[in-house]
Amino acid sequence: MSERKREEHTPGTPGMPRGWVRHPHERMLITPLVAGVGGLLAFFTVVAIVVWLPIHTFDPPPSSDWAPLSSTALAGRNLFAQNGCYVCHSGYSRPQDVRESLYFLYPKISAPGDFWGSDQSPNLLGTERTGPDLSQESGWHPDDWQSAHFYDPRYMDPRSLMPDMKSLFSNKQVDQLIAFVEQRSGKSGLLRYAGQLYAKHVVLVNQGFPPPYTGFQGSHKPPLESNDKILAPPKNQLEEAPNLAQIDRSYWLAGDPLPVTEANLLRGKEVFLDRCVGCHGLKGNGSGPGARFLSPTPADFTSADDACCGGDTGPGDFYYRILRGWPGTAMENFGDRLSVDDIWRVVLFIKTIPNGTLKPYRNPEPNDYIVWQPSKELLAWTKSHQTLPGNISFEKKAIKDPFMQEALRVMPGLAPKDRLLLNDGKTPLSLRDAANGIKALYEDMLNRAWSDAKGRGEKLPPESQKAIAPTVPGQQ
Ligand code: HEC
Ligand code: HEC
Repeated sequence: MSERKREEHTPGTPGMPRGWVRHPHERMLITPLVAGVGGLLAFFTVVAIVVWLPIHTFDPPPSSDWAPLSSTALAGRNLFAQNGCYVCHSGYSRPQDVRESLYFLYPKISAPGDFWGSDQSPNLLGTERTGPDLSQESGWHPDDWQSAHFYDPRYMDPRSLMPDMKSLFSNKQVDQLIAFVEQRSGKSGLLRYAGQLYAKHVVLVNQGFPPPYTGFQGSHKPPLESNDKILAPPKNQLEEAPNLAQIDRSYWLAGDPLPVTEANLLRGKEVFLDRCVGCHGLKGNGSGPGARFLSPTPADFTSADDACCGGDTGPGDFYYRILRGWPGTAMENFGDRLSVDDIWRVVLFIKTIPNGTLKPYRNPEPNDYIVWQPSKELLAWTKSHQTLPGNISFEKKAIKDPFMQEALRVMPGLAPKDRLLLNDGKTPLSLRDAANGIKALYEDMLNRAWSDAKGRGEKLPPESQKAIAPTVPGQQ
């Protein structure tokens, strides 16, 4: 049977009507060449719109927080790029990162105008967040913390996976890198760094320590010691008053809310071994491997006298120091890494260290716990000076001056009327002194960065941008 016949006779299939002509065999239009050219065209159109166009047309003005980099910081920025730091550290904080009021690393959302100018462009955004975002790193740690951390990150954080930077062996290179991380966060970062530098000055004078080593010197020099012979604490002042000036007043007499149980103490020991030994040492005497870089050196917890009777060693004081850190020292802020309970537990544990509870295989027992009692002197001082009602938190009017806000951040235990002397017997300390000192440091750093940028021939915004006051993010 012929083909046509079959078509006509198969039930259900329409046949080709008589007289119709089949289509001629068509040539394929989408040849590999056409597909290739078309694909490339589509690709480059997308690239042109998404990449080229924004690069050439998106030019946001500098944000009010923008500041140029000093030349040392710029050299550090080049090291940051050369050493692949951006592979693990992004350089912008997204809205979902921001944790306001936690005072750590993510206080504000990055704005496009934060990355203005040829010294910060192309910006080192990075994409991976293996380590924390560093766009707001400035001022959270003092320089001595940074140099110990670059020498070996495990010294500062035993859990860290960051590679050490010993290969940047010359002091100059580490110091440039430190300048970059301390000055990269715009004006709010410079303000925080100024607060850190001011607090460092207060702490060193008050405790009789020399300035810390720079760069990697700490790796081969003996640990720094306090020269307490030069100290002459003022007569009518509680010796611990300047230390207490850095602890919010409401924590001074607070007890530990958790019961002294074996389980709480054991968990406290675990936390201590996990996170604190790089600085405070496996014996708790303040001589961990990182200590040689630091001034002041980390606190020694082995004295029973300190544990029971110190003016600034109450459980509330310890809690506050661990929660918020101690500006001016390497003591860092654990508020977003340890739970409230774990901080109180490690406080319980610290007060058993004088009884040898850090020895291996030694479980801390409730009767190792040394109870702290406020001394008569402390109680008398709290009645007459740095009083609770005079505390700034009770002020009805919000503080608007950013330098005063920063002074309050680093000296939260002072009230506006308090006038103290540091333990050298002559350096004055008040909130006003702190705000003025911080302002002077801030303006000096900002002016130097501007004149460095001018010297490099960079395009700068009008001077009026420089005059816009900095802000303290998360502190309104
Ligand atoms: C392999 C990934 C990795 C690389 C590469 C890396 N880091 Fe880190 N970095 C981390 C991690 C993880 C942390 C958090 C733990 C810690 O503090 O060490 C960190 C922490 C930091 C911190 C402290 C942040 C804070 O305040 O807690 C700084 C500053 C820093 N890195 C700078 C650098 C610089 C500069 C470089 C390049 C020279 C670099 N990092 C390279 C992973 C990395
Ligand atoms: C990066 C180093 C470093 C790490 C890590 C560190 N500390 Fe500290 N710590 C210090 C330094 C430095 C001081 C300040 C000592 C001084 O100024 O006298 C300090 C002070 C303290 C104080 C106040 C002591 C006092 O007498 O007022 C407490 C409490 C404390 N640290 C507990 C801890 C705990 C708990 C951990 C772990 C969760 C820890 N620290 C981790 C460096 C560190």
